[in-house]
Amino acid sequence: MAATIGVIGESRAGETRVALTPDSVKKFVGLGLAIVVETGAGVAAACPDSDYLAAGATIAPSAAAVLSTADVILCVRAPAAEALAGMKPGAVLIGLLNPHGEPDVLQAVAASGVSAFAMEFVPRISRAQSMDALSSQANLAGYRAVIEAAEAYGRALPMMMTAAGTIAAAKVFVMGAGVAGLQAIATARRLGAVVTATDVRPAAKEQVESLGAKFVAVEDEEFKSAETAAGYAKPMSAEYQAKQAALVSEHIKKQDIVLTTALIPGRPAPKLVSAEQATSMKAGSVIVDLAVEQGGNCALAKAGETVITPGGVKIVGIANLPGRVAADASSLYARNLFNFASLMIKDGALVPDFEDEILKAALVAQGGAVVHPALKTG
Ligand code: NAI
Repeated sequence: MAATIGVIGESRAGETRVALTPDSVKKFVGLGLAIVVETGAGVAAACPDSDYLAAGATIAPSAAAVLSTADVILCVRAPAAEALAGMKPGAVLIGLLNPHGEPDVLQAVAASGVSAFAMEFVPRISRAQSMDALSSQANLAGYRAVIEAAEAYGRALPMMMTAAGTIAAAKVFVMGAGVAGLQAIATARRLGAVVTATDVRPAAKEQVESLGAKFVAVEDEEFKSAETAAGYAKPMSAEYQAKQAALVSEHIKKQDIVLTTALIPGRPAPKLVSAEQATSMKAGSVIVDLAVEQGGNCALAKAGETVITPGGVKIVGIANLPGRVAADASSLYARNLFNFASLMIKDGALVPDFEDEILKAALVAQGGAVVHPALKTG
């Protein structure tokens, strides 16, 4: 029997993205699936009901009506408790379930009895590149962080030579040169800033330099082995952090904008900018902390707020930066989800092979329990 894909409106405050776009509806329809979308679910991401209908979806008047029929629920963030309770037994839930960051939410998802897949756990192997939602969202977050920094900064980014005098180019320092950081470097360069960047992974140096930015880091023996086999950063020793902090302290003082993007999977974000370092910056300088939802890279950052120090440094802690580019973020995320979900579809029916390497890595809950080895506590 043909499976039904369902999407309900996101329940988290400020979540503007949607997990399914009209474009991905067409692709699912092409696989022989039925699609049902709660009315209004895509409006904040520039996807009105009429576009879903035109693409072949059915519009349902309520979340309950979607949930009672859907075999697969696609979401951005985990649905609220009442929605979880309304899902069909044995349904599949796929989304950015934030398994490390919100264990309570994951427990609630597990308790609902669905088979839940966390897109954060899709392995970074070449077969799964088109499903890499962390990358698609980080790319847009990196771009948007520069736009937010430019907005908060009371000066221009490019050098400007005018009859009334010359304006110097802004100095931008990007801390953490992963997907978000590299996009931030490229965006800041396009806006004419003079860009430097740091990271603890040696591979980042060449990538930073290839984008025309200067690399700033303590490059000792520990740095040379600071990358895991999966390409992620390792937590660094206290000695390394002290050396790096001394180097960074001197550098930060001279910067106009600092963008911090450093993360270590499954751990709180590393603290990279102390209160002293932040306050050492000139009046009017801006720090944008992209890691603010994972505890923050800057000691003074607060999620959802812009903190202004007595010395006039602005520390911007926007939660959900991809949500500020909701149409593009949704479009890329919906493609990630389509590519992932289609692994489970054969002849229009839902037939997940739980031994598939990708599905196995992303499965976090099944049969009423949290099942992922990295998440089991007891
Ligand atoms: P992430 O979001 O986990 O972390 C962001 C950046 O922060 C990383 O570059 C990390 O090295 C850096 N960082 C961590 N601790 C730091 C510290 N104390 N000081 C300075 N920087 C610190 O990483 P993301 O963006 O997910 O990418 C990690 C790596 O994976 C990159 O090399 C990226 O190119 C690679 N990647 C590979 C993919 C694939 O093979 N399919 C897909 C996407 C990314």
